[in-house]
Amino acid sequence: MKRRIYIAGGSKGGVGKSIQSVALIDTLTSRGEKVLLIESDTSNPDVWKMYSGEVQAELVDLDDANGWIDLVNVCDQNPDHAVVVNTAARNNRGVTAYGQTLNSTLSELQRDLVTLWVINRQRDSLELLRDYMEALPGSRTHVVRNSYFGEERKFELYNGSQIRKTVEDAGGRSLTLPDLADRVSDDLYSRRLSISAAMKELPLGNRAELARWRADVHSMLGTVLDG
Ligand SMILES: Nc1ncnc2c1ncn2[C@@H]1O[C@H](COP(=O)(O)OP(=O)(O)OP(=O)(O)O)[C@@H](O)[C@H]1O
Ligand SMILES: [Mg+2]
Repeated sequence: MKRRIYIAGGSKGGVGKSIQSVALIDTLTSRGEKVLLIESDTSNPDVWKMYSGEVQAELVDLDDANGWIDLVNVCDQNPDHAVVVNTAARNNRGVTAYGQTLNSTLSELQRDLVTLWVINRQRDSLELLRDYMEALPGSRTHVVRNSYFGEERKFELYNGSQIRKTVEDAGGRSLTLPDLADRVSDDLYSRRLSISAAMKELPLGNRAELARWRADVHSMLGTVLDG
């Protein structure tokens, strides 16, 4: 299988792009893959703060043409790493303007591009997804319903939508990201802990909740990583 570039997208603020990136890095590293994190949220680099001590990590501004050049070059220089890109809110403008820089180099990079598009239950998540898929047609795009915003069945807008059909007809999946208890996600964010660091440092009950979430995440993402 070709090495991959994973983009944790969603464009909207606060939908769960960062926690999706964390879930992905943890799943990849526990499978023994070398990971390169591209943190493009330069104003609030939360994933970078959690993971720069554990995996190779670069800060790259994807609102700017230079950032997309850097992204392609760093992927080219690290052919044996799976790349995880944590995107910032409102990143769709950068994708529309410069996404072609990446799209046009995928075959030379010998990389597959896989997007995990995180949604809440609102309509604009879906409208932004349509624009994104047009701007980056080379991406295999999966949709992630973040159950922090409610159970899977409550995502009625997406579940019954045309965009769901478009995603699935193109080989994408509709996935559900498990909800982690707030007090444990607060531990990760406020203490800037990776999942594996948190599995050493948190109190037993918190670790048990994290282990439950982690196992669910690994099985959810397993279908994407193997597919
Ligand atoms: N599945 C989840 N389980 C537990 N907490 C979650 C989950 N998804 C989101 N959250 C909480 O919601 C908040 C926002 O999530 P996150 O930072 O991942 O969103 P984001 O899309 O990266 O936001 P931003 O646009 O600001 O970068 C976080 O404080 C996190 O704790
Ligand atoms: Mg974020």
